[in-house]
Amino acid sequence: MSTSSRKMEHLKICAEKQVEATTETEHRQSGFDDIHLVHQALPEISKREIDTSTRFFDKNFAAPIMIASMTGGHSATLKVNENLALAASELGIGIGVGSQRAALENKDEEASFRIVRDVAPDLFIHANIGACQLKEYGVKGALKAVEMIDADALAIHLNFLQEAIQPEGETNATGCLSIIHRVCNELSVPVIAKETGAGISRETAGALVDAGVSAIDVGGMGGTSWAGVEVYRAKARGDQLCERLGELFWNWGIPTAASIIECRGHVPVIATGGIRNGVDILKSLALGASLTGLALPLVKPAMESKKEVVKVLQEIIEELKTAMFLTGCANINDAKTLPFVTTGSLHEWLQGRNDNIKRYKIKKEENETIKTE
Ligand SMILES: Cc1cc2nc3c(=O)[nH]c(=O)nc-3n(C[C@H](O)[C@H](O)[C@H](O)COP(=O)(O)O)c2cc1C
Repeated sequence: MSTSSRKMEHLKICAEKQVEATTETEHRQSGFDDIHLVHQALPEISKREIDTSTRFFDKNFAAPIMIASMTGGHSATLKVNENLALAASELGIGIGVGSQRAALENKDEEASFRIVRDVAPDLFIHANIGACQLKEYGVKGALKAVEMIDADALAIHLNFLQEAIQPEGETNATGCLSIIHRVCNELSVPVIAKETGAGISRETAGALVDAGVSAIDVGGMGGTSWAGVEVYRAKARGDQLCERLGELFWNWGIPTAASIIECRGHVPVIATGGIRNGVDILKSLALGASLTGLALPLVKPAMESKKEVVKVLQEIIEELKTAMFLTGCANINDAKTLPFVTTGSLHEWLQGRNDNIKRYKIKKEENETIKTE
């Protein structure tokens, strides 16, 4: 199956089926329900004056939100990308395009990506290419992806969970780090290392930072499950082995909240994977993320119209403002120093990984000392 048709199949499955990482009782796996922000009965700020704006890689964002990488690479995805980019532009937030592999394979597919820059000339937009494809297309391919959409940054996605479950998947992961290192050295725009739903560990984050990445998008477990998506594709072609693998690894990975904590402290962190409301966003910031990203909640709206995408995101921004109000946060800098309590399996994860809130606070103070020096 061509890359282009596979992208269409993914979009259709995500729009129509249950593809999220949840337990049978629908308990969310992202870890956000195990984080509790502390309510302030006397916030002493005016909700109307709350400022959600922030800066990331020298670009202004009206809210700490990105539309996460999703699509492009098929003529039918042009309208979807146009709706997403128009919505991002109206709201003043950023957007990442989907994997540009299809356009590197076939020039005719470039238009479905270029539309994003055409309708949003001033927006923060990142390009997207898989680590495996980089091995094939090299630094030249990375440069081409960036130039195709005049991107402000390049996201290199790591999706070995999905690759391991789809029959056409690339499971030779050797040499990725060295090509990432070369791309970071030779590209003039910053590089973001991005998982797609299984999270990034402290060990991997360290290797990526050493390789020169400028930010990490944790793409944690708890939102779209690519193993889950592959279950539907496997069922449709009667492939019992891939179906079984997909079922087993449906909830595989590092919960998004835990992955933020694993990765923070070196380069800016973007939290994607199961961000579903404004409270999740505020929790991500409190944990150490600089930005958050959403994909799945925008799939169906983007297939309809720009207006539907704007509606979903406006609701989320209103939720964020409400949570900021109730915790006494006047702006995004305040959000980054909010106190929180961890419970349940997230707490156990942190203990198991030898991390805890006390150490986090010390780390944060160290960072602030570094910043003020
Ligand atoms: C339909 C769809 C297509 C996606 N395609 C890509 C892609 O091409 N490249 C990529 O890096 N991530 C891709 N992702 C992953 C998202 O960017 C995001 O990391 C992941 O879905 C977790 O966020 P969510 O739980 O809000 O969906 C895609 C997600 C969806 C839903």
